[in-house]
Amino acid sequence: MFKTMMEGVPLPLIIADSNGRISFANKWLEEFMGYTHREFLKSNLRDLCASYEQNRYIFSCLPDIERTTEVDIDFYRKNDDIFTASVSFTPFHYQQAQYLFIIFRDVTSRRIREVKTREDEERYRRLLAERNMLQDQLHRSSKVAFMGELAAGIAHEINNPLGIILGFVQDILDEISSDDPLFESIRIIEKETARCVDVVKDLLDFARLKPPESISVNIVELLEGSVALMIPGIKKNKISIKKKFKEKPPTIKLDPQLIQQVFLNVIINAVQSMPDTGLLTFGVNLVHKAWLQEPGDWIRITISDTGTGISEKNIHRVFDPFFTTKGSKGTGLGLSVCQRIMEDHCGRIEIESQKGAGTICSLYFPIKD
Ligand SMILES: Nc1ncnc2c1ncn2[C@@H]1O[C@H](COP(=O)(O)OP(=O)(O)OP(=O)(O)O)[C@@H](O)[C@H]1O
Ligand SMILES: [Mg+2]
Repeated sequence: MFKTMMEGVPLPLIIADSNGRISFANKWLEEFMGYTHREFLKSNLRDLCASYEQNRYIFSCLPDIERTTEVDIDFYRKNDDIFTASVSFTPFHYQQAQYLFIIFRDVTSRRIREVKTREDEERYRRLLAERNMLQDQLHRSSKVAFMGELAAGIAHEINNPLGIILGFVQDILDEISSDDPLFESIRIIEKETARCVDVVKDLLDFARLKPPESISVNIVELLEGSVALMIPGIKKNKISIKKKFKEKPPTIKLDPQLIQQVFLNVIINAVQSMPDTGLLTFGVNLVHKAWLQEPGDWIRITISDTGTGISEKNIHRVFDPFFTTKGSKGTGLGLSVCQRIMEDHCGRIEIESQKGAGTICSLYFPIKD
C-alpha cells in the first residue's frame, strides 16, 4: 500500500537514509531526472548534485535534520542538463534508523526569473545613476551657457577699457626709470590689468559660439606638446613625469587649439596641487564603454597627480564656473571651460579624487567622425 501510494503521488520523491543513500525513488522522479530505478538505488543523493562543493554543508547536516527543511540545490539530469530543485527533506524514523522523505520541485525557471530581475534591477540602477549624472551635467551646462551669454555681453565693454589702461600703463613704464619710487606700483598695475585681460579672455572662451575646428590629429603628439609647454612649472615644483602610453590610438578629428587648452588646464591643476614634489602620470589607452547604454570606442587620456586631492564636499563642484579653492590665485573657470570644450567634441571629462592621495582626470574622445 505504501509503495502504491508513493508511486501514485504525482511528485518526484525519494527516500534516503540520513547519509543520503537512496533506498527508494518513485517513477515521477525517474521521469523527472532520467535515471532508472536501478540507477537511483545505487546512488547517493550527493552524486546527483551538480554543486556538491556549494552544498557540502547541507549534506553534512542531513543526519541532524529534525523537521521539514527546504533548500534549493542544483542537480544533474541523466543527459547532463542542470536544473535547480527546491528540495524538501522530512525526517522520519524506521527501525531505529533515521530516514529522509525527499520531495523535488523544479524551480529553474523561477531562478532564471530571479537572476533576470536582479540583472534588470542593476541595469536600471546604473541607468538611473547615469541619468542623474547627465541631468547634473545639463544643469551645469545651462548655467555655463548662461554665463557665456553674460560674458559675451560684458566682455567686449570691459576689454576695451582694460586695453586702454594697459596701453597707458606701458607708456608710463617706458617713461619712468626702474628706480623711480612708483615703478614697482605701476608694474603691479600692469600685471594685475594683464590678469584681468586673461580673465576676460577666459570668459570669452565661454561665449565662443562657433563650432570647434575639425582637423585630423595624433592626440598623443598633441598631449606631448602640451606637456612640453608645462616643463618649467613641472621642474619648479620638482615633479617627476611618468608616461603610460599603452596603445597607439588612431588619429581623430578635433580642434587642436581647444584640446590643447583642455590639456593645459588639467595639467596646470595637477602641477598646482603638487607644490613640492610629486608624480604626474599620463596614460593613453583605448576603451569600450557605454554611456546611457550607448556603447562606443573611446580614446581615454588620463592625467593623474599625487597632489592634495579634492574633498568629497568639493568634488561635485569642480566643474561649476567660478568654483575655486585657490582664492585670488584661481578664477575657477579652468575645468568648466574644459567641460564645455569636451562637450563640443562629443567627448567626456571625469574627475576622480581622494583627499590627500591625488586626482585622476580622464578625458574620453570618441573614435568616430
Ligand atoms: N588636480 C587637482 N588637484 C586638486 N584639486 C583640484 C585639481 N583639479 C581641480 N581641483 C579643484 O577644483 C577646483 C576648480 O578647478 P578649476 O581648474 O576649474 O579652477 P582653478 O584651478 O581653481 O582656477 P583656474 O583654473 O581658473 O585658474 C580647484 O580650485 C581645485 O580645488
Ligand atoms: Mg585650474
